[in-house]
Amino acid sequence: MKTLILSTEKVSLGEISKKAAAVFASGGLAAFPTETVYGLGGNGLSEASAAKIYAAKGRPSDNPLILHIGYRDQLPALVEEIPDKAKILMDHFWPGPLTIIFRKSALVPFKTSGGLDTVAVRMPVHPVAQAILRESRLPIAAPSANLSGRPSTTRASHVIEDLDGRVDLIIDDGEVPIGIESTIIDLSVPEPVLLRYGYVKLSEMEELIGPIRVDPAIRAENIISHTGAVDHPKAPGMKYRHYAPKAPLYIVSGEEEDILSKIRCLADKTAGILTFDEHLKVFPEGMCVSVGSIENPEEAAHRLFDALRQFDSLDADRIYAEDMTRHDIGGAIMNRLLKAAGGNVIQAGDDPENKL
Ligand code: TXA
Ligand code: MG
Repeated sequence: MKTLILSTEKVSLGEISKKAAAVFASGGLAAFPTETVYGLGGNGLSEASAAKIYAAKGRPSDNPLILHIGYRDQLPALVEEIPDKAKILMDHFWPGPLTIIFRKSALVPFKTSGGLDTVAVRMPVHPVAQAILRESRLPIAAPSANLSGRPSTTRASHVIEDLDGRVDLIIDDGEVPIGIESTIIDLSVPEPVLLRYGYVKLSEMEELIGPIRVDPAIRAENIISHTGAVDHPKAPGMKYRHYAPKAPLYIVSGEEEDILSKIRCLADKTAGILTFDEHLKVFPEGMCVSVGSIENPEEAAHRLFDALRQFDSLDADRIYAEDMTRHDIGGAIMNRLLKAAGGNVIQAGDDPENKL
């Protein structure tokens, strides 16, 4: 398939959204930027489009897709009911990086919901995503625009790397603003459950709707001990290895000084090192990739997926990453790193209490 690539620097937003809407209406696929990561979109009400999305990503078809809407009045037709807590969160965080799980209506095909009787919905705030969604007026099913198992795409160049020739259209808008995927909360059940850490923090939501349970499958200790083996995870995506660079990745955990000396001891010329600006001078030059300053967790989140992909071009044969627990936004960064590492954690220092 020949993929058309349109750059927002060269083509007007009006033209781009018309083209994307035409692709969706004819059952095709278009990758587009959102504020979190690039999405791989298709008509969310069409079984055939959902099948194409799974095929283009190489994604197992029991892993459900998020529906993206441009207008809030599209929601009622897609869901059985809109709980009060959902209304409160939508008023506060939509449009924006929060995905809410509802009980689905009959309109949403099981192919889109991965066979579940619930559906994930989000309303992005990115102007390009909004223009496309509003022009098309369809709910657009859009997983992250990466090949299944690979790091999510935060730049158009990543999308082209993974999906050129597999989709009809890629919209190139350079780099996305946030860089990690949306927070996911399940409100299809009486007691709210956090299913994925993201840019919207748990504490921000709890202030508005009260206590939220964290799904055990996303707790760090469970990712470490059970990767690939969590029983019946609520978000089916949680059971697959994610975000993986080509080389095996190990997280080195412990006190900062211990981490640095452990990595210095383990890494040779062919090993990649994922670190912070402040620590670059500690390691030999060449195979280090920084996610920015220790002082700036939002930047670390923004640069994480790009950094993981950089090790592929460096041809690292293995990668050591500093434990970023102390520097995360709501667990979001570490959660993704742990998945990228398949749960592999190397303990630095002697203190056995020193856990993630
Ligand atoms: O930021 C984002 O959410 C990006 C952009 C493109 O919007 N999208 C994204 O989609 O990250 P995806 O498909 O890569 O991740 C969606 C996650 C998967 O882990 C999936 O299992 C879970 O959401 N999910 C989707 N529908 C669900 C449902 N009905 N119940 C539980 N989990 C669901
Ligand atoms: Mg994804």
